[in-house]
Amino acid sequence: MPLLIWNDSFSVHIREFDEHHKKLVKLLNNLFDAVSAKQGCDAVEPILGELIDYTRYHFAAEEKLLNKHSYPWIAAQEHEHKELIVKIVDFQKQCKAKKAMIDLALLNFLKDWLTKHIMGTDKKYSSFLKEKGVS
Ligand SMILES: [Fe+2]
Repeated sequence: MPLLIWNDSFSVHIREFDEHHKKLVKLLNNLFDAVSAKQGCDAVEPILGELIDYTRYHFAAEEKLLNKHSYPWIAAQEHEHKELIVKIVDFQKQCKAKKAMIDLALLNFLKDWLTKHIMGTDKKYSSFLKEKGVS
């Protein structure tokens, strides 16, 4: 059973970003599978790394488009993005140094964060970008 299942209520009605969000959900579920299989940090850390890389890519794409259209809440969006990256990269470092484990608490944090990101912060730009003709 996956940790998180994407459904239409997650749609921000911007095709590219819906695809990104679906991929983020998939990567999070991969991480969940590895943790559930009780794989150690050495095996799980690269999967976390993949999630971090794709998250960076997604955030950069959102910020580029929102900046292009002078989105009024871009500063808050960028701040939120930066905060998450700092947090998960720090966790990845701790994991590499064997000072922490990737566990269900981290997965639940990421699940909640991703859900709030899509349903809250990103939904907010949806109608703004639609008005600018982005689809
Ligand atoms: Fe997003």
